[in-house]
Amino acid sequence: MKIAVCPGSFDPVTYGHLDIITRACDIFDRVYVAVLTNPAKEALFTPDERVEMLSKATKHLDIVTCEHFDGLVVDYAKLRGAIAIVRGLRAVTDFEVELKMASMNHHLDKDVETVFMMTSNEYSFISSSAVKEVASLGGDVTAWVPSCVAEALAKKYSHARKAGIS
Ligand code: PNS
Repeated sequence: MKIAVCPGSFDPVTYGHLDIITRACDIFDRVYVAVLTNPAKEALFTPDERVEMLSKATKHLDIVTCEHFDGLVVDYAKLRGAIAIVRGLRAVTDFEVELKMASMNHHLDKDVETVFMMTSNEYSFISSSAVKEVASLGGDVTAWVPSCVAEALAKKYSHARKAGIS
């Protein structure tokens, strides 16, 4: 049984993330999608909200489980018996950050391998932060995120606008 972890902030999940999760399902027997904390990013959605959106977006993939974990990705991988951490690479700009992260994780636990997949061309420019920027300014994001996510973004930003938060 080959188990993989797809970790990320998923704030919120995009079609780019779903592309990687779906392709991981073709290689591994079981895939755990973990909402983890990236200390460099301030989240818009709570971990529970992010897990809920991920679970809805992956409900057709029966080997996928989505959950939140508060801690190191290598500890989560060990907890779930995973042999690999799967990450998507969009462009060269991702490389440096991902190399550092993979090296750090390798140092922390040599039994877990980081596996990189190149994001499919049509999703190479999508990021959660770009999606949030467009949605916050009232733009249409339905080409980049599932409908439940587009609705959640519209709700968050309409509340923010009503409360006078920019
Ligand atoms: O979607 P992101 O923000 O690129 O994902 C980054 C994430 C959450 C996978 C990374 O920040 C992470 O692994 N956080 C958990 C803490 C950890 O294990 N840090 C060590 C790796 S540098």
